[in-house]
Amino acid sequence: MKTLISEFAIKEKVEELAQQLSIDYKQKNPVLIGVLKGSFIFLSDLARAMDFPLQLDFMSVSSYGDDTKSSGIVRIIKDLDDTITDRHVVIVEDILDTGLTLGYLVEMLGARKPASIRICTLLSKNHNRKTVHISADYVGFEIEDKFVVGYGLDYRGYFRNLPNIAELEEEDLALGFLAD
Ligand code: IMP
Repeated sequence: MKTLISEFAIKEKVEELAQQLSIDYKQKNPVLIGVLKGSFIFLSDLARAMDFPLQLDFMSVSSYGDDTKSSGIVRIIKDLDDTITDRHVVIVEDILDTGLTLGYLVEMLGARKPASIRICTLLSKNHNRKTVHISADYVGFEIEDKFVVGYGLDYRGYFRNLPNIAELEEEDLALGFLAD
């Protein structure tokens, strides 16, 4: 596995994003929506870097199954606990790839009439946005079309606990615990 983004670089970027969000949302009592499971570490660091009133809620959707390619199917596994009508919403994602997941989420949450809705993603693979025209308002890092793991991102449920972001290589797929 090859480190793509170090723990330190992530920390600096998260603080930078938190500062931007603080400027934009300090007076707005926003609700940050974490898209599970991938965003849980990013969101917890991001939220702790913000020093103003905000609320957190979570959704769980699946567009991937266990593979490394988008399935094209977005399934809601867990919906929000609370209503977002008239609230300023920031969707927090780990990675924007084809845009399928976020495209679906923005449409679905937009129908609940929030006061505003924006996207904050740690990573973005821009060249993969073929079918869905969606862009994030806050982006940590633009990355190439490589499958990455760590800092919340997984392969078959593993590697979420890595403190850095690493590129999954061919040889990693031979690791014993990944065998079917
Ligand atoms: P999209 O719907 O194609 O934009 O995919 C978004 C979701 O796919 C993310 O929330 C991740 O769960 C997953 N995903 C996309 N690329 C990667 C990757 O490189 N590593 C791990 N998960 C990924």
